[in-house]
Amino acid sequence: MSIRIIGTGSALPEHQVTNDDLAQMVDTSDEWIKERTGIGCRRISTGEGVVSLAADACRKALEDGGMEASRVELLLVATCTPEKGIPCAACQVQERLGATEAVAFDLNAACAGFLFALHTACAYVEAGIYRNALVTGSEVLSKIVDWTDRSTCVLFGDGAGAVLVERCEEGGILAFVQHSDGTKGDVLRCDGRPLSNPYVDIPAEAPFVQMDGREVFAFAVRKVPASIEEALGKAGLQVEDVDLFVLHQANRRILEGIAKRLGADMGRFAMNLDRVGNMSSAAIPVLLDELNRAGRLKRGMKLVLAGFGAGLTYGTSVLQW
Ligand code: UT7
Repeated sequence: MSIRIIGTGSALPEHQVTNDDLAQMVDTSDEWIKERTGIGCRRISTGEGVVSLAADACRKALEDGGMEASRVELLLVATCTPEKGIPCAACQVQERLGATEAVAFDLNAACAGFLFALHTACAYVEAGIYRNALVTGSEVLSKIVDWTDRSTCVLFGDGAGAVLVERCEEGGILAFVQHSDGTKGDVLRCDGRPLSNPYVDIPAEAPFVQMDGREVFAFAVRKVPASIEEALGKAGLQVEDVDLFVLHQANRRILEGIAKRLGADMGRFAMNLDRVGNMSSAAIPVLLDELNRAGRLKRGMKLVLAGFGAGLTYGTSVLQW
């Protein structure tokens, strides 16, 4: 028993920001950003929130999968940029959708969050606890980005993607692996609220994303191919058997490095980062939705989904569409 994706949806903010727009804000250029990352533009929220974007993406996934919100049994939102400390984003999305019977909670594994949420849904379904789930990655990273730091503000975008999954007896997720390495937590971080109460008051550091880009780059190119090979091995498949790689969209050069290590041609790597940048946990489900709606995903195709990010966290799903 496993889960298969029966519907997809995505939602992006209206406002588009080009590299030239950013060059008016910080010392950068369209040429540098395109050459070093492959990113051309991104969507930035001027009012859309993690909850409204996730709810929009979920509605589309439900429509695509032909399911009423009231039938959803599990609703997971992967996010590292929730609007509120409490209640969690998933409960707010549940309320907006009218998914009254769903158990709803958030999960934060940064850019690997969507995959970890998908695997959580898979484990619940395989354990016989739920029969279906809505799994969402939703981020408004623009609120935690330092807009004076050219090394990070050019990378990220806002958006949400969702998939509707249900139990299946054959196909679906064939194997998954996931890993965490908390010893490298400082490589990519964003501080939260400092401890402050009547007994202590610790001065806050800037609550913005801080990143050692080269370290993250090296980690991704080393660990992601290993996790893909590990997951393919569990599924009894080879790199040649994979029809499409749908990977976290952080940097085109990272994808090229991964492809090279796997000995796979770039033509099998789906990409949309040129249009939307790095949307953390939303990256993979938004790309999946674009591929689905473009008719590029045919039943029976073998897909590899792989994500990596802060934590450090990384993982891979091998699935049959
Ligand atoms: O979801 C995971 C999130 N994070 C990532 O995926 C990040 C992974 N890392 C990367 O994508 C790349 O490391 C970056 C795109 C962040 C940086 O590219 P790089 O080729 O590793 O550049 P670098 O950090 O080695 O910097 C090279 C130069 C530096 O100048 P100097 O010291 O050589 O004079 C930077 O100050 O490029 C400079 N630089 C920029 N120049 C123009 C850094 N950012 C920019 C910029 N525009 N936006």
